[in-house]
Amino acid sequence: MKFFIDTANLKDIQEAVELGVLDGVTTNPSLMAKEGIKGTDAVMAHYKQICELVDGDVSAEVIATDYEGIIREGEALAELHPNIVVKVPMIRDGVKAIRYFTDKGIKTNCTLIFSAGQALLAAKAGATYVSPFVGRLDDIGADGMQLIQQIVDIFSNYGYPTQVLAASVRHIPHLIQCAELGADVVTCPLNVITGLLNHPLTDKGLATFLADHKKVNG
Ligand code: E4P
Repeated sequence: MKFFIDTANLKDIQEAVELGVLDGVTTNPSLMAKEGIKGTDAVMAHYKQICELVDGDVSAEVIATDYEGIIREGEALAELHPNIVVKVPMIRDGVKAIRYFTDKGIKTNCTLIFSAGQALLAAKAGATYVSPFVGRLDDIGADGMQLIQQIVDIFSNYGYPTQVLAASVRHIPHLIQCAELGADVVTCPLNVITGLLNHPLTDKGLATFLADHKKVNG
């Protein structure tokens, strides 16, 4: 399973890179705004910086919601760096644009997926990734994991090459369940990735090993 970090924060991205387990990055307009990045030039420069930090796919989201606008923004993003994956919302013009990008060999991530039907449509259009939002479904009392299971099964039934990128992954049980269900990728904040390091018995066991070593070796 690939680990993507879901942030536009360069420090967090660098920390995940240094851990040696990072396969890519996802961003969205809210995450870019959180970092105070405003204006097209600043946004483009920030994406470039992220791409230079990470050896892997970096999802950069279009703001336009009409076909021509999505194509224009997506092509500009794709020209920035070979790591860029154009992130396109699951809307009618978005699906049409995904088909266009696919035919031109530009990678895409279809975002804001909340149903198996939406994922199937994006896969039919040739999306590289679909991003079902697990946490946001849980937020409204639905079952995000059930959606991951459905999409994994459907893509496997037909051998679609589209990868299931579980998004809105908020905590470790989410991540582990995605792994059990066979999601190709999870994207989550840094604390979820580093949280995987922790177990109280590891801390206790290490303290005992070091104490026993000290007893004999001084
Ligand atoms: C994915 O691409 C999205 O950026 C992200 O995972 C959304 O997560 P949230 O629901 O925690 O905002």
